[in-house]
Amino acid sequence: MFFSLSENQNVNIHYYQIVYFYTMKKALIIGATSGIGKALAELLLQEKFNIGITGRREKLLDTLKEKNPDRVFVKRMDVQDLSKIEVSLNELVDQMGGLDLIIISAGIGEENKDLNFEIENDVIKTNVQGFTCVADWAMRYFKVQGHGHLVNISSIAGIRGNGIAPSYYATKAYQINYLEGLRINAKDFESSITVTDVRPGFVDTAMAKGEALFWVAPVEKAAQQILTAIKEKKEVVCVSRRWRVIGTLLKIIPFSILKRI
Ligand SMILES: NC(=O)c1ccc[n+]([C@@H]2O[C@H](COP(=O)([O-])OP(=O)(O)OC[C@H]3O[C@@H](n4cnc5c(N)ncnc54)[C@H](OP(=O)(O)O)[C@@H]3O)[C@@H](O)[C@H]2O)c1
Repeated sequence: MFFSLSENQNVNIHYYQIVYFYTMKKALIIGATSGIGKALAELLLQEKFNIGITGRREKLLDTLKEKNPDRVFVKRMDVQDLSKIEVSLNELVDQMGGLDLIIISAGIGEENKDLNFEIENDVIKTNVQGFTCVADWAMRYFKVQGHGHLVNISSIAGIRGNGIAPSYYATKAYQINYLEGLRINAKDFESSITVTDVRPGFVDTAMAKGEALFWVAPVEKAAQQILTAIKEKKEVVCVSRRWRVIGTLLKIIPFSILKRI
């Protein structure tokens, strides 16, 4: 048996599709090609978000889009290319029809005991300049619309200095401090704009290098805990939760002990 829709019914279906599209929550994930960002992108799709995803490895972005063509919006974006960030994010958000949540997961870290400045500079360009450019754009956007949620993946590493990867630890300290600054900057929007600082310990991704790893969380578990923190609008969260202990110890440990670890 065949049913045919009248022109009016067709118009109505189209109208409801548009309304449905614009009422869905929208999230942008910066650095969604792998690791924590990718796992969060997949979780947010399950949570019925429309998502915008960025990164440099375009093929990996396209793979996620192929599975959900109507709800995933893709933009190749290198966060070191500061002059293109604002234009790219505006284009992506236009396609998505708005923005409620942005997660900055793009980050790099390198061991650099010999203090090669090229390496340090690369880390600074991504974790400081790129991060700041994206975070500032997001906060300006949220202030204009009057609400929004910024999440950044910093690290437990940001609590103290480190001699093997000095720029990684220092840039994560910068992020932690900057996020606190943004929270103060948006104090007039206290109940409507949230800034969440996610501080992972070790998570099982390409980034977790070296042999002296412990308490390594599976990436799915880390993403699930981050999602819970987002729903609860937490300001600071350690992932996995047991890393809170290490975070507290790091804060109080004397330098004479720290330099021997
Ligand atoms: N894994 C851990 O143990 C751990 C612990 C503490 C904190 N973190 C933090 O968690 C965040 C995510 O890392 P991960 O563990 O998920 O590692 P990952 O799998 O290496 O993911 C890093 C992401 O950052 C993106 N990215 C790197 N440089 C970029 C650039 N110049 N422009 C745009 N995107 C860039 C990568 O995309 P493309 O390469 O495609 O550009 C990738 O999607 C990082 O900020 C990291 O510092 C991780």
